[in-house]
Amino acid sequence: MSVTGHLDDIASVGRDGDSGGYHRLAWTAPDLTLREWFVGTSEGLGLDVETDRNGNMWAWWGDASAGDAVITGSHLDSVPDGGNYDGPLGIASAFAAVADLQHRGVQPQRPLAVACFTDEEGGRFGVACIGSRLAAGVLPPERALALRDADGITFAEALTSAGRDPRVLGAEPERLARIGAFIELHVEQGRGLIDLDAPIGVGTAILPHGRWRVDIQGDANHAGTTRMSDRHDPMVGFAHLVLAAQREAAMRDCAPGPGGSAEPPLSGHAARATVGKVRCLPNAVNAIPAEVTGWLDARAEDEATLDAMLEAIGRDLLNLPGLHMTIAMESRTPAQHFDPTLSRSLAASLGDAPLLATGAGHDAGVLAEVGVPTAMIFVRNPTGISHSPEEHAEDADCETGGTALADVLAELLTADTLRQ
Ligand code: GLV
Ligand code: MN
Ligand code: MN
Repeated sequence: MSVTGHLDDIASVGRDGDSGGYHRLAWTAPDLTLREWFVGTSEGLGLDVETDRNGNMWAWWGDASAGDAVITGSHLDSVPDGGNYDGPLGIASAFAAVADLQHRGVQPQRPLAVACFTDEEGGRFGVACIGSRLAAGVLPPERALALRDADGITFAEALTSAGRDPRVLGAEPERLARIGAFIELHVEQGRGLIDLDAPIGVGTAILPHGRWRVDIQGDANHAGTTRMSDRHDPMVGFAHLVLAAQREAAMRDCAPGPGGSAEPPLSGHAARATVGKVRCLPNAVNAIPAEVTGWLDARAEDEATLDAMLEAIGRDLLNLPGLHMTIAMESRTPAQHFDPTLSRSLAASLGDAPLLATGAGHDAGVLAEVGVPTAMIFVRNPTGISHSPEEHAEDADCETGGTALADVLAELLTADTLRQ
């Protein structure tokens, strides 16, 4: 089946009839339906599916224990009201590539697995890439289990409701040591490939990024009777946060140059800050709120720029009269560099595909951080829009990506050795 054929199979799962976007938060009903689809499709290709202690799924072609394995895949969960490509394109392309390799009669010298990682987006429990971070040992299981969603349900409770044992979460060094190469194909989430007029590219690195929770407390009071001079309104503190984030990122963010072919350091002089999530208590139109919480997502070209930006945003929030504010880091990820030798050889096999860095986070970055030889293939997104119902990739580009993935996997599966 083609890449788009697989995407069509799941097009209705978790789809919002009004917006056309997808709600596939981890361990909710749509996520479980997609997991069943993953198992069924894998079995249809003759692959053996294994779900590991962290809920990541691996569909094996060949002996899982043999080592030096070639892994490809991505994730099936989405952000709230996300697109149909961020994650699923990598899985659909992996299935199409496996069928293509089988059709070509490739005789693998080592095992291959299609992987599906748990909760890449962090859309439900706040921390991104939970499955790969747990496997990599960079997220302690006790921290993951205690994370809560917007309804107060813990990650542990969500696992139990899905029929999984939360006590078994943990690092998987032996499993990761058996990976010779991990190739994640992903829709591009920016405009790099449009600017380069290329249908596919190869990733070099992910910008340093993180999430911070800002709790602002004031005094609840009546909207009609409280004089403006008597108010301690946490929504005003929140407005300062949003404006400071916008100002401090915009002054540091410059568009990337034409580049793309050599080895761009990361992606130009990038700085991004977003407050995309807010909670207001009690959330009543005629009440000054008691408390507002905003979540800041900040990313930058390098650690120093990220630090400077965060410091400046924090300074702006100091001493707002009558408000009490705390800023807590929920996650922080350093720059993640994909394997340069693997990435360059992929780019060369794909007709000198352009190399580009990204501001988006991926499981591939988490695995690269702990030494798994990792590379990414990006598929052009004609508008650059992502994390939105408007996210798109042309069918022809999706198939080009699937064939590119199959070509790269064929080389890796038949090479004499992978790990040096
Ligand atoms: C994941 O897509 C992220 O970068 O937040
Ligand atoms: Mn993704
Ligand atoms: Mn995403």
